Amino acid sequence: MYILGTKEEVNSNLQILRNNNKTIGLVPTMGALHQGHLELVKIAKQYSDIVVVSIFVNPTQFNNQEDFEKYPKTLDKDLEILNNSEVNYLFLPDTEDIYPSKPLLSIDFGHLDKILEGSFRPGHFNGVGIVVSKLLNIVKPHIAYFGQKDLQQVAIIKRLVQDLSFDVQINVVPTVREEDGMALSSRNLRLDPESRKAARIISKALFFAKSELLLGRPWLSIRKMVNQMFESEPIAKLEYFELITSDTFYVLESIGEEKSVSICAAAYFSDVRLIDNVSIFD
Ligand code: PAJ
Repeated sequence: MYILGTKEEVNSNLQILRNNNKTIGLVPTMGALHQGHLELVKIAKQYSDIVVVSIFVNPTQFNNQEDFEKYPKTLDKDLEILNNSEVNYLFLPDTEDIYPSKPLLSIDFGHLDKILEGSFRPGHFNGVGIVVSKLLNIVKPHIAYFGQKDLQQVAIIKRLVQDLSFDVQINVVPTVREEDGMALSSRNLRLDPESRKAARIISKALFFAKSELLLGRPWLSIRKMVNQMFESEPIAKLEYFELITSDTFYVLESIGEEKSVSICAAAYFSDVRLIDNVSIFD
């Protein structure tokens, strides 16, 4: 695996490959790599000749300075993992390379960035939109890979690509989970053993709610039960638990006629904020 530190290095290395009709797949990450990231790499390798992973802890998407400072950074381990993978190039830029100056541009995603993650993390999706645009412009991949784990991010990026006519295909990869159902996340590294145990409740509540919905129980009654589950777990603080349309993120009170519906949740365990979601008809 080659490490590319600047836009210029990316350009000179990838242009030749593009000219030779090689397809390029990009997996953008913020590092602290785990099996979820590697699943994106694995799928990317199936559809693209060349796989590029980027690691950049993007400061503009953190609405909370402490969250940015405490975000896990495990570069040595990441390099070891990537060196043992099928990744061809790692793009590892400096902040100055990505942000030579603070962007004046800000992206308003309308309704999509006003709810759930958007409302609890103001400015987050603006930062995601800016950095993903930059990565797409620098790497110019044929396909970029994102995890279903961050479902609202997927909706945002699909709109970004559509609204700005980026010449890229967006592929979405299902969420990789631990044996107990918990979604893998870089932030899990920050959980102490007690919080890790408590954090199982997110996926448990999501899968419970999904099966009750499919059995026909009304959503409001399910949500009441889920609230009670969270109240009985003292470490957990539920932020939201919503039934939504998966692509457009409209909040629903019943499945109705919708074909693509998900439940999204966010909760704190001590000071660590985790998100997860399940799709209802998969
Ligand atoms: P990060 O949290 O590092 O995630 C990188 C990619 O891995 C995202 O597309 C995310 O959805 C995916 N991912 C994380 N956990 C996963 C899991 N358990 N199963 C499957 N995929 C998983 O998301 C970001 O970084 C950033 O916002 C980024 C897009 C890189 C922009 O800065």
